[in-house]
This record gives sequence, structure tokens and C-alpha cells, in this order.
Amino acid sequence: MRLTLPDDGIGAVASPFRVTAFDRVDSTSTVARAMAEAGTAHGTVVWAREQSAGRGRLSRQWSSPPGNLYLSVVLRPAVAAARVAEMGFACALAVAETAEAFLPHGPAARLKWPNDVLLDGAKIAGILLEGQFSAQSLAYVVAGIGINVASSPDSPTYQTISLRALGSGEIEPGEVLKVLLTRLSVWLETWTEVGFAPVRAVWMDRAARLGKTITVRIGNEPVEGLFDGIDDTGALLLRTAGGIRRITAGEVAFGQAATDTSAT
Ligand code: BTN
Repeated sequence: MRLTLPDDGIGAVASPFRVTAFDRVDSTSTVARAMAEAGTAHGTVVWAREQSAGRGRLSRQWSSPPGNLYLSVVLRPAVAAARVAEMGFACALAVAETAEAFLPHGPAARLKWPNDVLLDGAKIAGILLEGQFSAQSLAYVVAGIGINVASSPDSPTYQTISLRALGSGEIEPGEVLKVLLTRLSVWLETWTEVGFAPVRAVWMDRAARLGKTITVRIGNEPVEGLFDGIDDTGALLLRTAGGIRRITAGEVAFGQAATDTSAT
């Protein structure tokens, strides 16, 4: 059952966003996609305190207990459809800056391709881009973002961490939402007005394991190489024995290095 809160309790948020708050939904991205199909405007944000069927990349579940932040943003940017993937990098920068804002003495946030945000080598947040787009046309994108504020549900595939575990103290998810929307407003505007170059440059500054060995699972094939960064479309560049491979879809693993702080 969906319960709309009469007052989301967070007051004004950065332009162009308007927040619709729910107590509990199946997935904020499902709700946002339905709203987008019905014509809701660019900047519509669906925020829920809890999700019963949160989903992550690669058909994984996203465990969504109360205390963490779950939101999905409907975006209708006036850019070429081929540039959709770039948006995830802009979102990741906004999430990284948000996490750091609540940990003034904490570690710097690092980024793992394509859209993961790491603190102390563990995943603090995930981003899922969905929507109605193809190589030729872009009707809307829904950027679903989950940030581990109070707790970090275990994952069989990667280490997780929360802001609270890193010493943030108790934080209302709504406070994190407000900061995130401010940073998102800045990075999305930079991306649409200036282009992908500044987003790419800052992403590379924060990239975990740049120049080091990583494994990228492409389908069922693990490919090892040196992480050479991302190109001007956001594709991962992997330096292998057979030359540079340009990878547009896959899962990066750091292996043993996931706990290696030299990764940052
Ligand atoms: C990932 O696998 O790293 C992406 C996780 C994305 C989770 C968020 S939580 C809010 C939104 N609603 C969902 O069902 N998923 C995204």
C-alpha cells in the first residue's frame, strides 16, 4: 500500500526539483516511471522512507529498510539520446559530494565505474538509470538513487557501509535528500550547459583504482587489465595484453583490492 505523506517535512528544495514523498512504495523508480509515462515534468522527485521491492543494477535487489535514502528523479534533458549514460556520472558526483558533506572529517568519496560511490572502499550508494530512451530518442530518464544513511544491508558481491557507521551520527534521510538535490542541480546543469568534459574530469579525479589492475565481468567473461579511466562517452577503458578495450556494459570487481585503502 502506498501512503502519501501530507507534508514531506523538508521544505524548499533546489530548482528544478519538486518532491513527492511516500511512506512506503514498492520502488520509487517504478512510481517515478509511471508518473513519467503520465507526463510528469522534468525534475519530479519521488522519495520514499522505505521500499518493499527496491531494485539495483543487473537485476539485483536493493534492500530498503527505513533510515536510508531512496529516491528517483524524472529527467527530460535536452541532449542527444546517445548521451544518456553520461548522466549517471553527473549523479555519482552529486552523491559523492553529498556523502562527504555529512562526514566532514571522513574519507574522501571514490567512484567505481559506472555509477557506484565508495567510502573506505565500501559501497555507500548506488545509482540506477532507467527510462524510455534508445540510441535515437530520449523521452525521459529515471535516475534512481539509494544512499546508505543509517544502515548498510549486506551484499554477497561487494562490501557496504553507511554514513552512520562512518561517524555521521543520526541523520534524517530528508536532510540528505535536500543536500543531494542541491548538488544534483549543480552537476546536471554543468552537464547540460557545458557538456560531459567537466563531469568526466572530476569523475576521473575521484576514480578508485585508476592505473591499477581491475577485473571487468562482461556477461560471463571476466577480463583483467589496468584501469585506464573513461573516455569522452563514459565507456570504461581497460588496458589488456591485447590492447585497450572499450567497455560500455559490465561489472567491475576490485577483488582483494576492495579492502585495500590504496585503492583510494
Ligand atoms: C545499484 O545496483 O547500485 C543501484 C541501486 C539503486 C537503488 C535505488 S533506491 C531508489 C531507487 N528505487 C529502486 O528500486 N532502485 C533505486
